Amino acid sequence: MALADPEGVVLTPTPAFFGYHIGITMSGAEEWQMPLLEKNNYLPDLENIPQTIRDRSQLMFLNYPHNPTGAGATQDLFDRVVQFGLDNHIAIVHDFSYADISFEHQAPSFLQSKRAKETGIEIYTLSKTFNMAGWRSAFAVGNASIIKLLKAYIQNSVGGTFGVVQDASEYALDTQIKERKQLRDTYLERRNTVIQLLEAHHFSVSQSSGTFFVWLQLPETITDDKQFAKSLLNNAHVAVVPGSAFGEAGQGYLRISLVADKATLSSGINQLITYLKQYRE
Ligand SMILES: Cc1ncc(COP(=O)(O)O)c(C=O)c1O
Repeated sequence: MALADPEGVVLTPTPAFFGYHIGITMSGAEEWQMPLLEKNNYLPDLENIPQTIRDRSQLMFLNYPHNPTGAGATQDLFDRVVQFGLDNHIAIVHDFSYADISFEHQAPSFLQSKRAKETGIEIYTLSKTFNMAGWRSAFAVGNASIIKLLKAYIQNSVGGTFGVVQDASEYALDTQIKERKQLRDTYLERRNTVIQLLEAHHFSVSQSSGTFFVWLQLPETITDDKQFAKSLLNNAHVAVVPGSAFGEAGQGYLRISLVADKATLSSGINQLITYLKQYRE
C-alpha cells in the first residue's frame, strides 16, 4: 500500500502466498501475475512481461525459498531482477520469510546482488525460523526511501510491535544459532521422508530446496485439486492445501506441510498414497 496506487500495476508470482493480493487490492493497483513454471524451476520469466505492463509497474514481489513450491532462487535471477527494477523504475520487494529454512546450501539474498539497494528491499518474518507465527514480528532491510515509506505506513496503521515481542525477537535473533540448525535438520529429515515415500510409488514431487513444504503433482485423472483435497480430508483424514489456493497456476498440485512429527507425517503420506492410487487405475 505504501508503494502502489490505482494508476499502477504490481507484479506478483503465481502460485504464491495469498498475502500479496490483499495489499494490492487495498492499494487499488492492478495485479499482473508472473507464472512460475516447473520447466523454469519455478523462476519468473522476466522477458515475458509486456512493455505496456512494465511501463505501468510500480512494484514487484518475489519470494524464495518459495511458498508453496519450495523452489530456491539463483543469484543470477536476483542480478537480472535488480537490472529489471532499475531499467523500468520498479521497486522490488523480496519476501525472504524462509531465509533460514534452506537445505542444500544457504539461500541467496536479493541484497547480495550489486545495486540491489538502489531498487528494493528484503522482508523477513520471525514466524518461520522461530515458530513465532501470529506474534507479528518482522523487519525489512534495503533501499532507504522504501523503508521510509514502510515506516510511515506501519506507524499510521498497526502502530508497531508490542515491546515484549520485540524483546523476545531480539533474544531469538541473538541466541538461537544451534536451535536454528536443529529446526533446519528436522525439516530436512521430514522432507526426505515425504519425498522418498512418494517417489517410491512413482508420484511426481518437487525436490524442495527450502521452506517446510513439498509440492506434489496430482495424476492427470484428478481435474479438480480443491475437490480432491476436500475428499481426502473427509475420507482419509489427511489435511493438505490444494495448489489452486495459491492461484490458477497451482491447479493440479497439492502442498504438503512438514510441520507434523515424522511418524504422523509418514502415516499421513501413506494414507495419501493409498487414496491417490485409486485415481491411477
Ligand atoms: C511467503 C510468506 N510470506 C509471508 C508470510 C507471513 O508470515 P507472518 O504473517 O507469520 O509474519 C508467510 C506465512 O505463511 C509466507 O509463507
